[in-house]
Amino acid sequence: MSIIKLLTSSVGRKILMAITGLLLAFFMAFHLFGNLFLFVGEEAFNAYVNKLHQLGFLIRIAEFFLVLFVGSHAYSGILLWIKNRKAKKVVSSYSKENTPSAARSAAFTGSIVFVFLATHWSTFWYKFNFDLQGMSYYYVVTESSVGFGSPAVSIFYIIAIALLGYHLKHGIASAGQTLGIVGTKYESIYDNLAAIFWFWIPLGFISIPVWFGFLVRII
Ligand code: HEM
Repeated sequence: MSIIKLLTSSVGRKILMAITGLLLAFFMAFHLFGNLFLFVGEEAFNAYVNKLHQLGFLIRIAEFFLVLFVGSHAYSGILLWIKNRKAKKVVSSYSKENTPSAARSAAFTGSIVFVFLATHWSTFWYKFNFDLQGMSYYYVVTESSVGFGSPAVSIFYIIAIALLGYHLKHGIASAGQTLGIVGTKYESIYDNLAAIFWFWIPLGFISIPVWFGFLVRII
């Protein structure tokens, strides 16, 4: 089977989704680590972003791959969703009861995550790279109207990232099956690591809009 045929088959698409999804989850761990400098303070966060930007071209290459992974993950997901819908119409015994709710809603949560990422890039990423207007990076995130200075943005981030966690819960379990980890001696290690990525890391992200969007203004 040629590589093109493999990648465009259902199995190939599932493998591609599993690998790109897991790589994106690893990126989230790295991204959260950087964002947690917000809690250290303005100087620390700005210094971290400046260090990152000093990597210049390397960052652009990493961003290119991130967009490629998000794009191919979403594209394969949409094609598989369409195929499953068609199959559902043919197999009449297929009912809501035998489909895990997370799997059924993966397309919905995935779409919200996609909207979240498009918003996130066109605001934070764009401002950081092309429209800083002398503002501090810390200020853009914690005070500006595209950041957590706006309660609407904060609420949007909290809901979208919670849905992202839910999407990952299903996605990581599904990737474990696709990659043949389920049923092996590594399954329990995989499940424990999965919880870090679908629960703890999203919770870490959520703590940022909760704190800077609301708590810091009340306390
Ligand atoms: C409170 C939550 C978050 C904050 C404060 C935040 C902050 C930022 C900032 C400031 C940038 C621009 C970085 C730069 O160009 O120097 C960025 C970029 C990015 N963010 Fe987030 N982010 C958050 C959540 C997320 C989540 C949940 C994802 C999901 C995967 C994500 C994915 C990305 C990606 C892919 C980029 C572009 C790559 C990059 O420039 O690092 N972010 N984020």
